[in-house]
Amino acid sequence: MTLDTTPDDDELALRRPAAAEESSRASRQWWDRNADEYQEEHGEFLGDDRFTWCPEGLDEAAAQLLGPTAELAGRRVLEIGAGAAQCSRWLAARGALPVALDISLRQLQHSRRIDEQRGTAPVPVVQADGEQLPFADGAFDLACSAYGAVPFSADTARLMREVHRVLKPGGRWVFSVTHPIRWAFPDEPGPEGLTATSSYFDRTPYVEQDANGRATYVEHHRTVGDRVRELVAAGFTLLDLVEPEWPNRLTEAWGPWSPLRGRHLPGTAIFVARRG
Ligand SMILES: C[S@@+](CC[C@H](N)C(=O)[O-])C[C@H]1O[C@@H](n2cnc3c(N)ncnc32)[C@H](O)[C@@H]1O
Repeated sequence: MTLDTTPDDDELALRRPAAAEESSRASRQWWDRNADEYQEEHGEFLGDDRFTWCPEGLDEAAAQLLGPTAELAGRRVLEIGAGAAQCSRWLAARGALPVALDISLRQLQHSRRIDEQRGTAPVPVVQADGEQLPFADGAFDLACSAYGAVPFSADTARLMREVHRVLKPGGRWVFSVTHPIRWAFPDEPGPEGLTATSSYFDRTPYVEQDANGRATYVEHHRTVGDRVRELVAAGFTLLDLVEPEWPNRLTEAWGPWSPLRGRHLPGTAIFVARRG
């Protein structure tokens, strides 16, 4: 799972089906409620204009998964589930033309706050669901998402098709998610997070719901094979699957990601695909 969320006292955490509409509504409301705390807690690590793919601190500057950094200038890039658009700001500084899309207005307001504090040109932002992209066919050269909409989306097959539609032929689509193997383990940074307690193959969503049974937080699981299949079915060619290792220099836990778990298990999977 993605975050070490804690259900409120009157909420229940369980595994149950959650369709697209319920999942999107829960995500929008959860991120609107929790954006301030998220940016407060993780803003320093994320940096205002850093493009990092994951808690393991693999940066696009080093990894160049979107292609050579020197070739980003002038490229139209869609960032999906952009949060406060830190990655888009890094791209803009390299001459790219990013659009930062997120379902949460509050996350996008943090993007605007950062731009105002820095006195830099605002990153263009769009509030929308990653499953329904409000752009013309072939509008972008590249698409990316660092732990953005994908883990929260009920219909990732549709999301992949949408990204394919808005990309130009040959355009790259790179996204990072919690490594699928982590689904089988408790979301704990300590030793209890090292023993598998549930099935990697159980795709039943993780749901937190209120006393009325309304989902307040949802995460969806796909196996590695599911992700590859969805990409290929949408028309992508998979170029790489990156599993960043935990670096010695990072001594602090990032929610349920920690040096201890990082020594034993992958925490992130980054899929690098190209539109055929
Ligand atoms: C873990 S944050 C990642 C954002 C940023 N890359 C970062 O590392 O802070 C996940 C983001 O995905 C957004 N999100 C969740 N579901 C979404 C959806 N269906 N469509 C678009 N954005 C979504 C959330 O609002 C949130 O800003």
